[in-house]
Amino acid sequence: MIPRIYIPGDSGALALGAEKVAKAIRAELAERGIEAKIVRNGSRGAYFLEPMVEVATANGRVAYGPVKPSDVKSLFDCGFLTGGHHKRWLGAPDKIPFLAKQTRLTFARCGVTDPLSLDHYKAHGGLKGLQNAVAMTPADVVKQVTESGLRGRGGAGFPTGIKWKTVLDTSADRKYIVCNADEGDSGTFADRMIMEGDPFVLIEGMAIAGIATGATKGFIYIRSEYPHAVAVMQKAVEIARKAGVLGINVLGSANSFDMEVRVGAGAYVCGEETALLDSLEGKRGQVRAKPPLPAHKGLFGKPTVINNVISLASVPVIMDKGAAFYKDFGTGRSRGTIPIQIAGNVKYPGLYEAAFGMTLGEIVDDIGGGTATGRPVKAVQVGGPLGAYFPRALFDTPFDYEAFAAKDGLIGHAGIVVFDDSADMLKQARFAMEFCAIESCGKCTPCRIGSTRGVEVLDRLAQNVEPEKQIALVTDLCNTMKFGSLCALGGFTPYPVMSALNHFPDDFRPTPVAEAAE
Ligand SMILES: Cc1cc2nc3c(=O)[nH]c(=O)nc-3n(C[C@H](O)[C@H](O)[C@H](O)COP(=O)(O)O)c2cc1C
Ligand code: SF4
Repeated sequence: MIPRIYIPGDSGALALGAEKVAKAIRAELAERGIEAKIVRNGSRGAYFLEPMVEVATANGRVAYGPVKPSDVKSLFDCGFLTGGHHKRWLGAPDKIPFLAKQTRLTFARCGVTDPLSLDHYKAHGGLKGLQNAVAMTPADVVKQVTESGLRGRGGAGFPTGIKWKTVLDTSADRKYIVCNADEGDSGTFADRMIMEGDPFVLIEGMAIAGIATGATKGFIYIRSEYPHAVAVMQKAVEIARKAGVLGINVLGSANSFDMEVRVGAGAYVCGEETALLDSLEGKRGQVRAKPPLPAHKGLFGKPTVINNVISLASVPVIMDKGAAFYKDFGTGRSRGTIPIQIAGNVKYPGLYEAAFGMTLGEIVDDIGGGTATGRPVKAVQVGGPLGAYFPRALFDTPFDYEAFAAKDGLIGHAGIVVFDDSADMLKQARFAMEFCAIESCGKCTPCRIGSTRGVEVLDRLAQNVEPEKQIALVTDLCNTMKFGSLCALGGFTPYPVMSALNHFPDDFRPTPVAEAAE
């Protein structure tokens, strides 16, 4: 049997040098006259170990990482093709603590299989959910998804089954499934990882959504900053179409469903569902007033399901193993698993899929290993640029939609960005306002004007100009933005600003000039 070597083609791994490693391995194979099959798999998400190279041995896969091109010769000398020991030896990948402790339902195949091999996908349980769905009535499929407790992973946590039921119950000559792959939140990469590492699971999830709602056409709107994900998804759609997974007779059934990949326009607001629809229609991405809901009047005025990549990619396992199986994981009203993305100043950055309910402290300290700088953790921003900053005092908060909301925070797309004690929270608050000012679509005044005024107020505060007055003003402004904005860009910017102000008040009272000079 010819040796099989797995070298991630995931853009995170590529950024860390995976392509150079692949080149060095190819050259070494040629020089030694060894024939081997190289598979460009996705990443398993332990980015601190990337590029992580794996070899298939008689005793299962053996991982090495992080591999540098300069390691390659010695890896061959140590017999790595049969799992030989080397300073980069990590052993069986699923025994690596960061990976072993996870509950991988949505990401079960990511980093394991060849992303563009449909046979590999099927051999690892792929398409079973779709096979079950084509044999059911649309209402029963919707019922399964509703009963699983799945909530939207894009940010708002809206129950997916209810959204699907609204589209199913709305009659129209055409309906659409739109996958939101704009993934603009800071510190998030779950959508990209699954599109690059297991594209068929998203295709399968979208096809199930189509069958469940009567939609025959889907679009995946991928941010332009993800060229690798775009390329993989395009190839995967073609393969799925040729294999009859997509097309006029999905898996030989009477259901028809096909899809296209579309590249985003490069604005954060185009991730907001109605701005995304405008962008897909070829217009400037601007938020639409609701109602009508996209489920009633969405893309081109037709009933449309808009779901995040992870929401859709979580559906196949639900349809394969059943609603009860999925619902069994989690806590409270947060059911199933969530791919937590740990980033920023952290020792062990990566994607960690787990059942809802772990505390923030467990995620940051135990899994993330604290800061990369070794300094104390000061704050953690959860949920992207619109998420609150949590201090250590809130680290006992369980990862659960309601628990975070109760502490004036949000889970969002489950991105966690860690900051050490050198972070200046006044600067972070200003950054939130500035981000909102730059990314505002301009449709409503609290966001368009408020964010610019917010930057000015925080600048005056930094210059120590009547600080108490500025704090009162920014608090008032945040209230106006929170309750008066049309969408969550303006409406949620107060979360990072006010959490920084409330949890780190010392950073908002700069040392008076005279005192500082002493
Ligand atoms: C400013 C803004 C940006 C957003 N960006 C994204 C995004 O990049 N990806 C995403 O899935 N949802 C994003 N959302 C949420 C979407 O509007 C919408 O709730 C989501 O696509 C619905 O899918 P879900 O129910 O599966 O989460 C954003 C919302 C706002 C207000
Ligand atoms: S809150 Fe901002 S981004 Fe949202 S509609 Fe208003 S101006 Fe546009």
